[in-house]
Amino acid sequence: MSALAAVCLLPGADTKRTAPDWAYGYLKPLSPGDTVGPPCPPAAKPYPDCAYVPAPVPEDGVKRELPGAAARYTRNEAYFDYGPADWYPGDHPPMPEIVAKGKPAAGVRACALCHFPNGQGKMENGSVAGLPAAYFLQQLTAFTTGARRSADPRKANTNEMAQIARLLTDEEAKAAANYFASMKWRPWVRVVETETAPAVRSTTNGLFLPIAGAAPIPLGQRIIEVPENPERTDVMRDPRSGFIAYVPAGSIARGEALAKTGGDKTKACITCHGQDLLGRGNVPGIAGRTTSYLMRQLWDIHQGTRKSQIMAPLVEKLEIEDMIDLVAYAASRMP
Ligand code: HEC
Ligand code: HEC
Repeated sequence: MSALAAVCLLPGADTKRTAPDWAYGYLKPLSPGDTVGPPCPPAAKPYPDCAYVPAPVPEDGVKRELPGAAARYTRNEAYFDYGPADWYPGDHPPMPEIVAKGKPAAGVRACALCHFPNGQGKMENGSVAGLPAAYFLQQLTAFTTGARRSADPRKANTNEMAQIARLLTDEEAKAAANYFASMKWRPWVRVVETETAPAVRSTTNGLFLPIAGAAPIPLGQRIIEVPENPERTDVMRDPRSGFIAYVPAGSIARGEALAKTGGDKTKACITCHGQDLLGRGNVPGIAGRTTSYLMRQLWDIHQGTRKSQIMAPLVEKLEIEDMIDLVAYAASRMP
C-alpha cells in the first residue's frame, strides 16, 4: 500500500489532437511542458499516476453559513480532506467512515470531499448518488486496473480517483457503493442555449468560475459550465447548489433527436439508459448530470482510455458536435 504520489510533468502534446479541453477544465489544448502543479518530478509513464496537491490556503477564521444549515464552517474546515463539511446531515443516511473521513494513514481523502455527502458531486469530479451499486463497484475495478483513465493527462483528480480505488478494501468499496446507491439522484444542471458565455477561469482542479466584471466570450462549438453560485460551490462546498451549462443554440433539440433515435451514427440512448435517461437496472443514469462530466466520459470512451465494450461502438462515429448535442440534452432532463 503506498500513499498518494506527488505531482508530475506531463507528456508532450499531440498537436494533431482536437479534444473538448473544456470538459477537462482547460480552455487550451495540452502543450509541451505542461505540468500538474509544481514541483514536478519527471513523468515515468505517459499517464502520470499522480494527484494534484494544492498549496495550503491560510485559515481566515471566518465561519460561513448556508440557508437552513445549523453547522458553520470556515473555508478550510469545509475543505478538510479527512472530514469535510456536512452542511445538511438530514439530507442523507449516516455516512460510512470511508465516505465521511477517508483513510488518513493511506492518504485516501474522504469520498464526501469530492462527491459531497449526498453524492451530488461537482463538474470536475462526478456525481455518484443513485448509481447502481454493481455499476459503482465495476467502475472502481476499472479505475484500479487502468481500464478507466482520463484521455487528458492533465486531469489529476481522475488520477487520484484511480489511486483511491486501488487503496480501498472490498468492504470499504461495498460500503461506499451501497451508501451512494441508497440515495436518489437529483438533477442539478440548468442548461441555457446561447451564443455567448461568461468569461471563465479554471481552478487548479478544473472547476470553471466566472470572471467578475469581464465581458462575455463567444461560445462557439463548446460548452461552458459554471456553478450556479460560485461562492457557495467553490468556497463552501454547498451540496445543494448546482450548475449552469451554456450550450450552443439548437443543441438540446438535436441531442434529443439523437438520444431518441440514434440517427445513422449510433443507437438510441433511451433503450438502455431509460426513457427519462435516469438509468435502468445496472445501467447508470445520465440525466441532469454535469455536461463536463458526461462529455469527459464520451470522449474518454471514444479515445479508448475508458474501456467499455457496450459504449465504445456507440460513440465511434460521433463527432464532438454530436457529443455536445447529446450531453446538452441529457443534462437538461429534469423529470
Ligand atoms: C480528489 C477527489 C475525489 C475523491 C476524494 C473521490 N473521488 Fe471518486 N471521482 C473523482 C473524479 C475526478 C471522478 C470522475 C473521473 C472522470 O471524470 O472520469 C470520480 C468518479 C468516481 C466514480 C465513477 C462514477 C461514475 O458515474 O462512473 C465512482 C464510483 C467514485 N468516484 C467513487 C469514489 C469513492 C468510493 C470515493 C471514496 C473512497 C471517492 N470516489 C473519492 C474524484 C474523487
Ligand atoms: C446497449 C445499451 C446502451 C446504449 C444504447 C447506450 N448506452 Fe451509455 N452506457 C451503457 C452502459 C452499460 C454503461 C455503463 C458502462 C459500461 O458498462 O461499459 C453506459 C455508460 C454511459 C455513460 C457513462 C456514465 C457514467 O456514469 O460515467 C455515458 C455518459 C453514456 N453511457 C451515454 C450514452 C449516450 C449519450 C447514449 C446514446 C448515444 C448511450 N449511452 C447509449 C449502455 C448503453
